[in-house]
Amino acid sequence: MKILVTGGLGFIGSHTVVALLEKNYEVVIVDNLSNTSIDVLEGITRITGKTPDFHQIDIRNKSELIQFFDNTPDISGIIHFAAFKAVGESVEKPLDYYENNVSALVYLLKESRKLKQPKFIFSSSCTVYGQAETLPITENAPVQKANSPYGNTKQIDEEIIQDYIRSGGDLEAISLRYFNPIGAHPSALIGELPIGVPQNLVPYVTQTAAGKRQELSVFGDDYPTKDGTCIRDYIHVMDLADIHAIALEKLMKKDNSQKYDVFNVGTGKGNSVLDVVNTFEKVNDVKLPYKIVDRRPGDVTAAYADTTKVEKELKWKAKRSMGEALKDAWRWEQKQHKSQ
Ligand code: NAD
Ligand code: WQD
Repeated sequence: MKILVTGGLGFIGSHTVVALLEKNYEVVIVDNLSNTSIDVLEGITRITGKTPDFHQIDIRNKSELIQFFDNTPDISGIIHFAAFKAVGESVEKPLDYYENNVSALVYLLKESRKLKQPKFIFSSSCTVYGQAETLPITENAPVQKANSPYGNTKQIDEEIIQDYIRSGGDLEAISLRYFNPIGAHPSALIGELPIGVPQNLVPYVTQTAAGKRQELSVFGDDYPTKDGTCIRDYIHVMDLADIHAIALEKLMKKDNSQKYDVFNVGTGKGNSVLDVVNTFEKVNDVKLPYKIVDRRPGDVTAAYADTTKVEKELKWKAKRSMGEALKDAWRWEQKQHKSQ
């Protein structure tokens, strides 16, 4: 069975491609390399012994996309990762974000009409909930007005997919609302490749431990939490990778009655920024210099998933601990420095 993975050389995409290949799916990757490197393809090959079909295509480019789908009519499922993801950058360049994250989705859905009963998995985000009133967050929590163009693109995308399915489109889809993916493949052959100064916590932590950054700035210690720092649900990217094939399999079942559904994907556990710092130091036996600074505008106090629905309906549960993820992230970071 052939699965198209857009953004398949990115952080979550590359780990998902490995999971799909290990389940013997045939994988075709479309990526424009805007936020990754072609070397990731070699990492995938070294892990799995298989080289997926790769097309360097920008999905905003309609004619290239049309040609690709005309030449590849036997795709059974699409996993759509390709997007821009930096919250701060989206405030500065909203039109670029709407073009890449929204217009390109529309082009992709239009092309999917050439396929026979296509299944579609969409990378959504817990950012759609904003600061939820009740924790842990269930899928029934209201979607709140986004506080960044990036967050808004995820909300709009979910609506576009639903509207298309409601209109009678021959598509079945699942939106996966990821919490905070971290870590790397334990082989350290693939991982996260932040370009420039990392905006996310764990890449900043690993680069600080490696001496590439002087110290970590912890954004605020005056939140109403156990130690004053924000709480998040950090999920190992390998656990996150696994769910994509499971979600596709649900859609492929003959008795699947739900044409659109949404699932939270997290561990269900909340950890503070200082929990991350302390666990990182402990599992890796390294010192992490940090200082407390002002809050970062736009940060929510706490977000962690209620995983009841995903556990019950998709029979999936995160297996790996945060410590394991922080070990794998550190191994990956060290490997980057060795290979420089
Ligand atoms: P990433 O940037 O590592 O991967 C995205 C990939 O898509 C990159 O390889 C990039 O080159 C490619 N790409 C971007 N625009 C493209 C285009 N127009 N045409 C072709 N390829 C294109 O990001 P990621 O962390 O792997 O995130 C994957 C998806 O998951 C994104 O949709 C993101 O919004 C979503 N998500 C990520 C997080 C997170 O914290 N990493 C959390 C929630 C949701
Ligand atoms: C985690 C915690 C920071 C960096 C973002 C997006 C969200 C989703 C996941 C895509 C927060 C603190 C961070 C640093 C720090 N992405 N922090 N010092 O903010 O939960 O979510 O990524 O959909 O949409 O908004 O993740 O890793 O940036 O921050 O203290 O240098 O670490 O304040 O509490 P966040 P993050």
